[in-house]
Amino acid sequence: MDTDLRGLFFPLNVVLFFFIPSSQISIFMTHLSNYGNDRLGLYTFRNLVKFLQTWTNLRLQTLAPVQLAQRYFQIFPEERDPIWQDPCEDKRHKDIWSKEKTCDRFPKLLIIGPQKTGTTALYLFLGMHPDLTSNYPSKETFEEIQFFNGHNYHRGIDWYMEYFPLPSNTSSDYYFEKSANYFDSEVAARRAAALLPKAKIITILINPADRAYSWYQHQRAHGDSVALKYTFHDVITAGRNAPIKLRVLQNRCLVPGWYATHLGRWLNHYHLSQILVLDGQVLRTEPFALMDKIQKFLGLTNTLNYHKILAFDPKKGFWCQLLDGGKTKCLGKSKGRRYPEMDTDSRTFLREHYRDHNIELSRLLYKMGQPLPSWLREELIHTR
Ligand code: A3P
Repeated sequence: MDTDLRGLFFPLNVVLFFFIPSSQISIFMTHLSNYGNDRLGLYTFRNLVKFLQTWTNLRLQTLAPVQLAQRYFQIFPEERDPIWQDPCEDKRHKDIWSKEKTCDRFPKLLIIGPQKTGTTALYLFLGMHPDLTSNYPSKETFEEIQFFNGHNYHRGIDWYMEYFPLPSNTSSDYYFEKSANYFDSEVAARRAAALLPKAKIITILINPADRAYSWYQHQRAHGDSVALKYTFHDVITAGRNAPIKLRVLQNRCLVPGWYATHLGRWLNHYHLSQILVLDGQVLRTEPFALMDKIQKFLGLTNTLNYHKILAFDPKKGFWCQLLDGGKTKCLGKSKGRRYPEMDTDSRTFLREHYRDHNIELSRLLYKMGQPLPSWLREELIHTR
């Protein structure tokens, strides 16, 4: 009888008599048939206990299963949160997975956000490509699955896979999903890399000051009482002693714009060649150039000419999907809202607030061999 210790196989007696006295906790799992069909396991464990009592001064104690689990997680708090790994990365895992399941039902591309940078437009444009298939919309979270960042993660990978169609044998399916708050989540990058280590990652960035302002306007439009009560300048400049609700709104406005910190986290888990950083300004003005860049990055051979399927809608003020008959289909009124320009004091305050973050972002992009977005070049001029 062998045992599997973090991927290594040792004869059971070596494990029992060597590892148990030297490890804080040992967990043994066995197939039921091993117990049912022979008594070697029980015999070995009985003798192990005898051995420990005779030859060591260890005092053996036991607890009820739930208390044992609680004790375990006290010792290893970082293991409280499960981490789903790609079942197809390890042959042994794949072999015991249901035959009906396939890793082809996982996305190969994640659009990670952040929010308010044009992620919905990008998601719509990508979905127009015949070789790209987006996730089914989630009723719960405004279309986005939001698997890797929050409580949905604990629903497991079967839950996640249900958001993607069963792959067909013939087509070269390329699934993707977009959840805009993956970008600044503390946990999403680590979790995504464990399940989708080969995925490509796209982030789209606009000037973080404009992102903060767009987010504030979004909150106002959704009737957020704090955003309605306070001006944008009040929100971004609120001090330590400001009401907690104001501080929370302030954080949600400002923190996603610390781009270098968040991108750095993704770079800790993915190789830089797997991550593409896009300029949200270009998406607004020249979406074709951007879509060509993405198709190249994804290695799509069937290149779609977006000139033919996008049209600028003067009423909306944005690029929209061109329908048969020359009409356009634009994103709803919650995207591309009209609101007053940001006041100069807020702009100056945010320029200073994001200064070091922007400098650090330019360093990261240089390291990644990716061009600086136009808005970043402009911001850097002001830092001199
Ligand atoms: P505003 O509504 O503040 O103008 P997201 O989808 O990530 O939440 O981003 C929303 C932002 O996408 C909008 O912010 C808008 O400026 C930008 N955007 C870029 N291209 C767009 C398009 N073709 N249609 C609508 N909005 C677009």
